[in-house]
This record gives sequence, structure tokens and C-alpha cells, in this order.
Amino acid sequence: MGMTDLIQKKRDGGALSREEIRWMIEGYTKGDIPDYQMSAMAMAIYFQGMDMEETYELTMAMLDSGDKIDLSSISGVKADKHSTGGVGDKTSLVLCPMVAACGVKMAKLSGRGLGHTGGTIDKLESFPGFSTSMAEDAFLRKVDRVGFAIAGQTAELCPADKKLYALRDVTATVASMPLIVSSILCKKLAAGADVIVLDVKCGSGAFMQTEEDAFGLAKALTEVGRRAGKKVVAVVTDMDEPLGSAVGNALEVKEALAALRGEYKGDLMELCLTLGSQILTGGGAAENDAQARTMLENAVASGAALERFAAFVRAQGGDAAAVYDPSLLPQAPVTLPVPAPEGGWVKRIHAEGVGLVSMGLGGGRAFKEDTIDLSVGVVIAKKVGDQVAPGESLGTIHARTEEDARRAAQRLLACYEIGPERVTRAPFIKGVVR
Ligand code: URA
Repeated sequence: MGMTDLIQKKRDGGALSREEIRWMIEGYTKGDIPDYQMSAMAMAIYFQGMDMEETYELTMAMLDSGDKIDLSSISGVKADKHSTGGVGDKTSLVLCPMVAACGVKMAKLSGRGLGHTGGTIDKLESFPGFSTSMAEDAFLRKVDRVGFAIAGQTAELCPADKKLYALRDVTATVASMPLIVSSILCKKLAAGADVIVLDVKCGSGAFMQTEEDAFGLAKALTEVGRRAGKKVVAVVTDMDEPLGSAVGNALEVKEALAALRGEYKGDLMELCLTLGSQILTGGGAAENDAQARTMLENAVASGAALERFAAFVRAQGGDAAAVYDPSLLPQAPVTLPVPAPEGGWVKRIHAEGVGLVSMGLGGGRAFKEDTIDLSVGVVIAKKVGDQVAPGESLGTIHARTEEDARRAAQRLLACYEIGPERVTRAPFIKGVVR
């Protein structure tokens, strides 16, 4: 078997066998297959696709390229959640404590932000002292004791994906369905949970811009998960505007805390209730969606979810005082409201653009090595469908300097489309694929 033959086979629309895929992934992980050949293969897959059997075999080969986490020492059902990536997505910060307070444990591995999307680890580092690097046994103990823990992904988990994802990033081959499915699922399978719930984003701020593509991805993820013997549910949700209001690390933590205090009822909470009820029913903690939603709502109303969050911050070395007093979180020195130049209804908010505004203020990274400012970002005040009067604030910029704030305000304005007609919002939850 030679890599050139496999590239040619895929280029011409052939299906790769289990043996061929395993040989290729093993060779690439060991460094026997060079990046230039793997780039050509990724591009051939991008254009020719892969059938379900190939996608499953690719997922399993990448899963077997490294270590797997064994969660069997943790009592009860263990769940995991993953989002395909969005702007203002602070869901894990709200969902994990809600679910843990209802009796299902969450062992979550997360990443840092890159480009216009943020990362859960960066957000959590807004709590002084908070750490996501820990030995595996410490991680397992924390999940068992607190109900959830969030750790950074180690290099030993799915090394094939780590290499291939970095290569796809620089060869314009990220947006390929089989490559996305295998990349997401190998990591979720390696993390060892019994129930996996996936939030597949759809819209201008997501990989999948159309509902058709998003449902296609959701179906492929659940099908490959089923073949791998796991309960995988995918929820397709809107990413045509940022999730919630805040975009920027500490600002998103503040919004997540407001949601846990029960002060927030918008799309973010709707998403947490939808994902959370899939986890509770999938994990056998609730009999149906209605019961699960009531349990999750009670966890917020009683304060149990917020307490769980404080216990989690403490367990991971953070100062939990800020959980109860968010003014202790990093604060930007300059705030600037952005007035609407005209009145009307908000037709569109370019989600990726808002992510780039936060990044331009210093809240995100262009390169992995960049350091970020946790305090800066944007809090939008008007969402799609809202009416706005001329001069009314569309949102507030949180910046290091007046000049940064003025520049960001211009860029935020460019993200908004305001029209003279009333706008009906499309449903936020587009559907659930089991
Ligand atoms: N997230 C991943 O982990 N991998 C992809 O390919 C896309 C999103």
C-alpha cells in the first residue's frame, strides 16, 4: 500500500477500506506520511466526500491513535457536550452546573479560543487562580465529588486529530463533513462519556451556513456515534447572531452567572434547557423532556446550579467570591455605548463580525501563542427582531483605550443590518436529531 495510490483512489471518487484508513492514520501520526501527502488526501476528501462506513472507520482510527479516558471510577451516568463553535457561546458554563445539580455528572474537556470563536478555558481563567490543567485521576475525583469538572485536552488524546486539524486549518479543508464528524467524534469517544449531546450551529457564524448542511452534519454525527455504540443526540441551533448578549471572556462569564441566578431567559437559557433535557432523558435521570426541563428550571430557581458552579470554581483552584460578586471579575477601563444611526428593526447581526470585533479589542487570538485580555469585548443590547429608535444603544464596547473603543464601535455598526420593516425571528432551536 502506498499513500500516492490512496490519494489517487480518493481523488477519483473511490471508497477507502478500513485497512487503508488505519494504515494512513497510523502512518501520519507516526510521521511516516508527510504533511504534503496528507494535505492532498484532505483536499481529495473535501471534494469527493466519504461514505458513512469510511467516516466511521476514520473516526475509530483517529480514536485509536492515542489514549482514552476511563470514567468507570466515577459513579452514575456520565455525560459530555460539544458545540461545533459559535460566537458568544458560554453554554457549558451554564449547562454543566444545571445538569450536575440534577444528578448527571459531566466530565468535560475544553479548548482555548482561536479566531472569532472563544474558548471555555479562557473564559474560566477570568476567575483568579482557576486552572484546567490537572492529572487524570484528579480530574476524575473532581467530577465524582463536585458533579462536573472542565479540563484542557491533553496531547495524548487523539494525536492524529491534533495533527490533521492543524493541517486542515492551513489547507482550506476544515469545512468537510466527514473530516468534521471524525474530528469531533474521535475526541468525544476518547473522553469516555455514556451520553454525548452535540450542539450543531447553523448560520453566518458557523461552519454550516445552511439548515440543510447543519442537519446533514447532525445526522452523520449521530449515525457514526450509534455505530460506535454511544448515545449521541445532536441539536441544530441558530448561529445567525451571537448567542446571548456578551462576546468576550469575562463578559461572557458575567452573563453565564446572570443565567445561573435566573435573571436571564433568552436564547442562551433556551439552549441550556434543550441540551440539558436531552442529557437528563438520555442519562435516565428524567422520564421525558417536560420533566427534565422542570428539574433544570428548579436547579436554577433554588440556587443549586449557582452553588454547584461555585463549588466547581473552588475545586479547580479559583476564587469563588466572584461567583457571588461578578464585579470582582476583570473589568475593562473604558466602556462606550454604540448608538443606532437610524431607527427600525434589526434584520441581521453578522455573528462572525461581532466575534472579530471582540478579537480586535484584544479578547481573541489570531495565533495560538497570542495572549488575550480577558476584560474586553462587546455586550449587544439589540438582537434580531428587536425594534430600535434612532440613537438608541445597539450595544456597549468594553475596551482598554478610548481609541480602541471608537474603532470597535465602527466595526460593530457594520455588523448590524437595520430595516424599516418588522422582522420575525426564525426559530432558535431548529431541530433535534437522535
Ligand atoms: N471542531 C472540531 O473539533 N473539529 C472540526 O473539524 C470542526 C470543529
